[in-house]
Amino acid sequence: MDRTKDLMARADRSLANTYARFPVILQRGEGCRVWDVDGKEYLDFVAGIAVCALGHCHPALVQAVQTQAARLHHVSNLYYIEPQISLAELLCRHSFADRVFFCNSGAEANEAAIKLARKHAKDHGNEKRFEIITMESGFHGRTLATVTATAQAKYQKGFEPLLPGFHYVPFDDLTAVERALGPQTAAILVEPIQGEGGIRIPSEGYLQGLRKLCDEVGALLIFDEVQTGIGRTGRLFAYEHWGVEPDIMTLAKALGGGLPIGAMVAREEVAASFTPGTHAATFGGNPLVTAAAFATLTTLLEEDLVFRAAQMGERLLQELRKLQAAHRAVKMVRGKGLLIGMELDREAKPVLARCLDGGLLLSSAGEKVIRFAPPLIVSEGEVRQAVGVLDTVLREVTG
Ligand SMILES: Cc1ncc(COP(=O)(O)O)c(C=O)c1O
Repeated sequence: MDRTKDLMARADRSLANTYARFPVILQRGEGCRVWDVDGKEYLDFVAGIAVCALGHCHPALVQAVQTQAARLHHVSNLYYIEPQISLAELLCRHSFADRVFFCNSGAEANEAAIKLARKHAKDHGNEKRFEIITMESGFHGRTLATVTATAQAKYQKGFEPLLPGFHYVPFDDLTAVERALGPQTAAILVEPIQGEGGIRIPSEGYLQGLRKLCDEVGALLIFDEVQTGIGRTGRLFAYEHWGVEPDIMTLAKALGGGLPIGAMVAREEVAASFTPGTHAATFGGNPLVTAAAFATLTTLLEEDLVFRAAQMGERLLQELRKLQAAHRAVKMVRGKGLLIGMELDREAKPVLARCLDGGLLLSSAGEKVIRFAPPLIVSEGEVRQAVGVLDTVLREVTG
């Protein structure tokens, strides 16, 4: 405990105060479990917020990182490197996309998408076509452009003036999009399932409707799959649930299995608006992170973890629905694959704190929603264990 207190005091003195952290110092991980500096074990249903798809320290990922770190860890995009090419090929082979731009985070991938949409409109002679329509309660990142795209006042307050050219409409409301859409619209940017906004799944026909509206006015459709992509929802990409292909898609989080990498993928005709010098990132897709992402994606595919996410997700959903029936504090449970939200009638934070004490890591998505996003390798026994801890905590909290 002294070690924890000492490190927290040092953190308080040296780190920027941007995170409301839980009072625990994590030190080691394996599979779906992590251990703190005092040796206490936790079942990890956060997975670095939908990042560690293969769990912690998966041998394939460790091996890939160790080998690449010892061979060549960084050069520059002035030169070609094989892991980057192989990863781009893999992403294109398994999605609608023809080309990939690599960067370092979800926000950066969305920045690239926003820039590409604007450039694409200009390249087609539409000087006044620069508006991006985004959805209320969406989340796209913390840079100035992506926080502007994030139609939630709590993330924007204090950072004004925001970027011009963004228009917000309610999520899952096609009529509102129809009203907002026009010759000024360069693109619609939307999460197929809203993550940070509380794990919100759109109605049948919504994403198909967006595709149709974009096609009618010649706007691009951008899917932010930073949280939903790479198997999380029981399909490799969430858009597959609805059979709707975007023009651009953004990825990060699980792509590198825990190493920082983002990607913006696009159809050939759209990607053509990025030419040498138009966009860049020093670290974007460097040998180390692309080798890690290649290992993550190939392992995920070889071990059929996307199917497993669908299966285990269904199992977890069933168990959580039983908790809903047993606890009046639980208002709703919803999700796809291993991205599930449990909406409470109260703030989630105190429940999360008690789960932590009980050896279960969980995060929230919005104030009242508990998010379940375990590694895709999670077992049935681990699902049962997590639900058991939560059941006890809910009983304590609600009496
Ligand atoms: C849907 C979505 N887009 C973008 C981001 C931003 O990603 P990053 O934190 O890697 O910049 C997030 C992060 O939570 C996200 O959930």
